Amino acid sequence: MNRVPSGIPGLDELIEGGFPESSSILVSGGAGTGKSIMCMQYLYDGAKNHQQPGVYVTLEEGPHNLWWNTQRFKWDLLPLEQQNMLRIYKFEPTAEMKDNLEEQTRKIVDKAKAVNAKRMVIDSVTAFSFWIEEPAKLRYAMYLLIEELRKINCTTLLTCETIGGKNDLSRFGVEEFLVDGILQVHFTPHNRAIWVRKMRGTKHDTRVHPLNITDMGMTVDPKQEIMWEAIT
Ligand SMILES: Nc1ncnc2c1ncn2[C@@H]1O[C@H](COP(=O)(O)OP(=O)(O)OP(=O)(O)O)[C@@H](O)[C@H]1O
Ligand SMILES: [Mg+2]
Repeated sequence: MNRVPSGIPGLDELIEGGFPESSSILVSGGAGTGKSIMCMQYLYDGAKNHQQPGVYVTLEEGPHNLWWNTQRFKWDLLPLEQQNMLRIYKFEPTAEMKDNLEEQTRKIVDKAKAVNAKRMVIDSVTAFSFWIEEPAKLRYAMYLLIEELRKINCTTLLTCETIGGKNDLSRFGVEEFLVDGILQVHFTPHNRAIWVRKMRGTKHDTRVHPLNITDMGMTVDPKQEIMWEAIT
């Protein structure tokens, strides 16, 4: 199986070298746990170090905000955008879309196709619920998107906002079953933590590890362990 490096130092050691190629990975966690930073670092690493174009679809946070947040990390995103290696799109949900999920999916997939993207981010799938209330329809929308991105060999990170409890995997109870992998991120004073909840086809690590965010970006400490009891 081909593996796609995550771009997060220390994380690949936990998942046999990286995400399975063409898979979909849910990055699940409460507010401010580092989901968006992880996603941007994944795309930045792909574009800069692996010649893999990436597309970031944001459904809530504005592209300028995302851009601004990453300036602290000194990632030079502009040249990558100019070389068509990185694209950031704000996707505005509208009320009509819920009756035309195929059309909405096609719009996102077209953005990926336009730059031959190998890495994709959807931040967040929770925002789908703005215009899809029924869980069955939400499930179908997510299924459609994941499968279409798989067909064009994109390895996709999808963020999911949970209420923040340590056992919360998702918001609607359907997201976790559709994806190939789940990374859960936590923030409890004063620990940031990550663990691999699921990774299909992978003999992954089962412990909780420290997650660090500094001016250099995000890292995981694969040697250190955080006790489950220390997380609330
Ligand atoms: N340079 C930095 N050094 C240390 N910590 C930082 C730095 N930049 C951001 N952070 C931390 O990262 C957090 C935000 O991360 P991020 O935006 O990825 O979270 P998120 O999970 O996407 O949140 P939300 O659910 O609100 O979208 C901030 O609240 C802050 O604690
Ligand atoms: Mg975010």
